[in-house]
Amino acid sequence: MNYKKNGLYIENISIQRIAKKFGTPSYCYSLNKLKLNIRNFKKYFRSINPLLCFSVKSNSNLQILKEINKMGMGADVVSKGELIMALKSGISPKKIVFSGVGKTFDELKFAINKNILLINSESESEINQIEKISKIKRKKIDIGVRLNPNIDSKTLKKISTGKKEDKFGLTEINFLKAINKFKNSKYLNIRCLSVHIGSQITDHKPYAKMLKVIGSVIKKSNHNFDFVDLGGGMGIKYNKETKKLDYKKYNSIIKNFLNKYRTKIIFEPGRSIIGDTALLLTRVLYIKKTRKINFVILDAAMNDLMRPALYGSRHEIMASIKSKKMIRKKHEFVGPICEATDKFLSVPKFQTLREKDILAICDVGAYGMVLSSNYNLRAKPSEILINQSSSKIITKRQKLNNII
Ligand code: LLP
Repeated sequence: MNYKKNGLYIENISIQRIAKKFGTPSYCYSLNKLKLNIRNFKKYFRSINPLLCFSVKSNSNLQILKEINKMGMGADVVSKGELIMALKSGISPKKIVFSGVGKTFDELKFAINKNILLINSESESEINQIEKISKIKRKKIDIGVRLNPNIDSKTLKKISTGKKEDKFGLTEINFLKAINKFKNSKYLNIRCLSVHIGSQITDHKPYAKMLKVIGSVIKKSNHNFDFVDLGGGMGIKYNKETKKLDYKKYNSIIKNFLNKYRTKIIFEPGRSIIGDTALLLTRVLYIKKTRKINFVILDAAMNDLMRPALYGSRHEIMASIKSKKMIRKKHEFVGPICEATDKFLSVPKFQTLREKDILAICDVGAYGMVLSSNYNLRAKPSEILINQSSSKIITKRQKLNNII
């Protein structure tokens, strides 16, 4: 995504043209950026040859998943819906892991019937449930058990998952108890230790601590795990202030770990694969000026992109036509929804803007469309995939008729 002359382009098409053709608000993805991200991710971890399972919760668009499948990735799913979508995209069941703190009987049965690689479980009760189903089916099921390593991942409070106060995984004591209880089960094969300490992590140190804890727990468990699933969480650069995760260091920490413990590493990246591949195109409806603030009222709202309202996260906004003229006054970019939190961004200055201008909200590929809703009875936006000079709709804009 770059300015050519003064026009903002995604690959070889101008944002203006896309907005005109498909309307706003629209999520707009760059296929070649997605491919580049996957190639880079593989490169960072080439020396440890991990299994890469894309975290479908970050983006579950069928066409996107098809492209991800073509690039050789598997999937990390957390519901029957995501599992069906991953299978529909062509991803092999042998590359699918099913995570989540609470899977229903129906979801477990479905996953077992599909012979997926692993069901990662997070409670003794759920493991009991899986054992029950496997007894009925008379087959041995491969499972993982999620450890809560009690580590602060130094990320946003609302997306931290690895501390003992968090609902995720089993504490060390309960983890060891579960391994002991089920390791000789006739119906279960405990093949994996899984963890996931949070999302948007930009510091490698929490990962280093996490691997230390995993090592010590493996030793205490006296059990061989074929897989260690390290989850996802790798952060991306949302703006100039965000630090970039040092993949080299993370890779070398894992290499050291693998020198002591022979196992296959699984990753479940979501954001780092898809986050910076998309823009949300939106039109300026009105500009309302007060003495101190220019409110830029957009046709996109928190129902289309929830992250700023939900986590206070910052997504930069770019104009589709660049102007050198700056207005040195506070600008608040807001949506039309009747909530004070329906606010995308506040900046001390912005270039000159006019009503009807097209803007792009950046880095919305992960946890963007998947978190959209019909709040205020607004139709969900469309999704467009760009490949060099071609563009195609990968999700049609919802019609009000279908939700009323
Ligand atoms: N594996 C597990 C078990 C997870 O819970 C998650 C994310 C991932 C993998 C993928 O994490 P990633 O690589 O995308 O960081 N909606 C929030 C993020 C919630 C993340 C939930 N779990 C946001 O918009 O920031």
